[in-house]
Amino acid sequence: MKALPHPTLGIREEHMPDGAGSYRSRLSFPFLVTIMSIAVASFLSGQAPSPGTWPSAEQRADTLLKQMTVEEKIGQLNQAAGVPLVILPDAPPAEEQVRKGLAGSVLWVSEPAAINRFQKIAVEESRLHIPLLIGLDVIHGYHTIFPPPLAMSAAWDPKLVEQVQTIAAREARAAGINWSFAPMVDIARDARWGRMVEGAGEDPYLGAIMAKAQVRGFQGPELGTPGHVLGCVKHFAAYGAADGGRDYDSSYVSDDLLWNVYFPPFKAAIDAGVGSLMSAYMDLNDVPATGNYFLLHEVLRQDWKFQGFVVSDALAVKSLITHGYARDADDAAYLGFHAGVNMDMASNTYVTELPKLFKAGRITEAQLDATVRPLLVAKYKLGLFENAYIDESKIATILNDPASGRVAREAAQKSMVLLKNDAQLLPLDKSGKKYSSIAVIGPVADSGPAQVGFWGGMITGGDGVVTVIAGIKQKVGPSVRIEYAKGPGIRREIPSVFDGLPGIKLHDEPAQSAADAQSAFDEAVATAKRCDMAVMVLGEGPLMAGEAASNSSLRLAGRQQELLEAVVATDKPVVLVLINGRPVNISWAAEHVGSILEAWEPGTQGGNAVADLLFGDANPGGKLTVSWPRSAGQEPLYYAHMITHAPETAPDFKSRYQDVKTSPLYSFGYGLSYTTFAVSNLQLDRSRAKVGENIGASVEVQNTGSRAGDEVVQVYIHQQSGSASRPVRQLKGFEKVSLAQGEKKTVHFTLGKDELTYWSPSVRNWVLEPAVFDVWVGDDSTATLHGSFEVTQ
Ligand code: BGC
Repeated sequence: MKALPHPTLGIREEHMPDGAGSYRSRLSFPFLVTIMSIAVASFLSGQAPSPGTWPSAEQRADTLLKQMTVEEKIGQLNQAAGVPLVILPDAPPAEEQVRKGLAGSVLWVSEPAAINRFQKIAVEESRLHIPLLIGLDVIHGYHTIFPPPLAMSAAWDPKLVEQVQTIAAREARAAGINWSFAPMVDIARDARWGRMVEGAGEDPYLGAIMAKAQVRGFQGPELGTPGHVLGCVKHFAAYGAADGGRDYDSSYVSDDLLWNVYFPPFKAAIDAGVGSLMSAYMDLNDVPATGNYFLLHEVLRQDWKFQGFVVSDALAVKSLITHGYARDADDAAYLGFHAGVNMDMASNTYVTELPKLFKAGRITEAQLDATVRPLLVAKYKLGLFENAYIDESKIATILNDPASGRVAREAAQKSMVLLKNDAQLLPLDKSGKKYSSIAVIGPVADSGPAQVGFWGGMITGGDGVVTVIAGIKQKVGPSVRIEYAKGPGIRREIPSVFDGLPGIKLHDEPAQSAADAQSAFDEAVATAKRCDMAVMVLGEGPLMAGEAASNSSLRLAGRQQELLEAVVATDKPVVLVLINGRPVNISWAAEHVGSILEAWEPGTQGGNAVADLLFGDANPGGKLTVSWPRSAGQEPLYYAHMITHAPETAPDFKSRYQDVKTSPLYSFGYGLSYTTFAVSNLQLDRSRAKVGENIGASVEVQNTGSRAGDEVVQVYIHQQSGSASRPVRQLKGFEKVSLAQGEKKTVHFTLGKDELTYWSPSVRNWVLEPAVFDVWVGDDSTATLHGSFEVTQ
């Protein structure tokens, strides 16, 4: 038997000093005193106690724990699948488990009536009437689907991110979902990994800011704020570092990268008060994350003092056997429990195995109480004991609030990145004076499912979406003729595991015969020939990005590249709009197509937003938060790499490939506008500072073009020497500024302890070292405006 310390109590009860194990009795006395004093005071005054004197969620959880049997406690640690799972044919129906008090949560149910039914069983039919946590992946919207986190991060606008997740939370809560499995904050530096779309990109500084903003959006100012939900930061940790970008594959990540790159967004979410965390699927340095004591205890509880609870990823407790880590189900439950997983997502392992472990004395009641307690606390804080139900008659008003649609449109506009506009083809003229006919061509020009992406599609199936073709048609005046041709369809080469699973509304595109594909191809080219210009809408179709959607190549799927080349060969002006969840290979397009707009998976209002930008009713201001590769062979690719002994500035030995440039096609932080900006006059308020002192930096930014626009001023630093090599550049500040034509603003930044400290692998701790630091400020990660300062002892 592997004897492990327990994560929440620190040590197993049998190893505790005398008396320390009597956790229950230590808490019960003060609690009883509190309750009794409130009761006596209320009786004497004849008034109800004021809210401030009510017992806290923690006190209420402790009282409830005392009434629970061991089976009921274990039941709270079980999250039951609300849909039947083919891989677990013997699992009892969720309703039955809830009724018997053997499930504390249900997931994968999104219909309000079904949710109310589940809560009714829990609250009215189970012995202790404990309401359920209802969990769902509300990653970027429930009914109104917003752009996914990768796209939202490209807006560089934390307030907007918070606003979007506030709406997502409000809609979800109205429908009965009280727990969202979000934010997903995995740093992703390899576009082959299909889940890159769910996080904020490659940078830990930006990732931490976006993580905080999302937690505030989901949970509100504090957990339990009405109209909000419990957040769940995931997937702890380094899931995005999967070998070869293959989803679920092992991650091998140094301590340096863990502390400096992969952990910071998690830490930020925890500092922002996120109530729960999800353990990842994969092996981290050969120990599965769901049985990983280092991650779930030493880092999370000991170092970061996380007070919430941990849920495994789906079936991940049972998968500890598949990994070859746990011997059997009994061992899997033991390892997950003692590593620090409070709740078993859908694998039914805790609920079947923990009772046996308890009887055998391998888990104690005190350990069980400590594991259940934060779950009950969350339920109390969420107000579920007061009201677990939702009023189904009120949902429609909340879901159909026109204000949400307006925010979705604005979010989509702001997240899009104008990658190229050499010949100033954009913005297009909607009066028809320049082009009186426009061909809109491509397999995702009229695809709701492609626009809402993996999680948006799971919930909505892509219904209710304004597609690109619809948006363009609504935008142009009567004198512009719009012709649409889909071209050959695109679909995954290997079907998605999610296609056809119960409760999932997203499907792979149907297969098309070669002959049908050819006639669709010919029709698309003919359409382009008939029109004055073409807007090609290419990218990824349903289930082509997201979970279990890794690619070895980033090439445009199906015959899209060939179609693009054929349309460009017609000599008509071409604008390329991309609908996708990660960078794809557009190296050819970057040379041969006049204008390229990255629209990501723009959500419910995406078509309107694309049209707003194409026709100049809005001005693009998004900036990439991932380095855009020239080809998949460059991955993993990120700007904050080490200088190495052969830096790119060296006269020789600088090329890392002989067949492609080392630089990305488009850099981190890059994005164009219909206007132009100049960033100048970098001033540092001192050239020397002592360790711990702040350095103030300021720059001027001016709109030098012909219309109003947004610019993101970015600050990068480099530490020239120290106890470890440091990245060539690291983002340490940014500000998004809106400037009218000709307007100039001064932007201020502070570089201090937080910005200059890093985790040194040789010191094995956080350090702020005396050294010379470079500073660059500009509009992307290749900024050239430079200054420097020295930090001294
Ligand atoms: C995913 C998680 C998700 C969970 C529940 C898993 O397959 O990895 O991100 O939260 O399913 O849907």
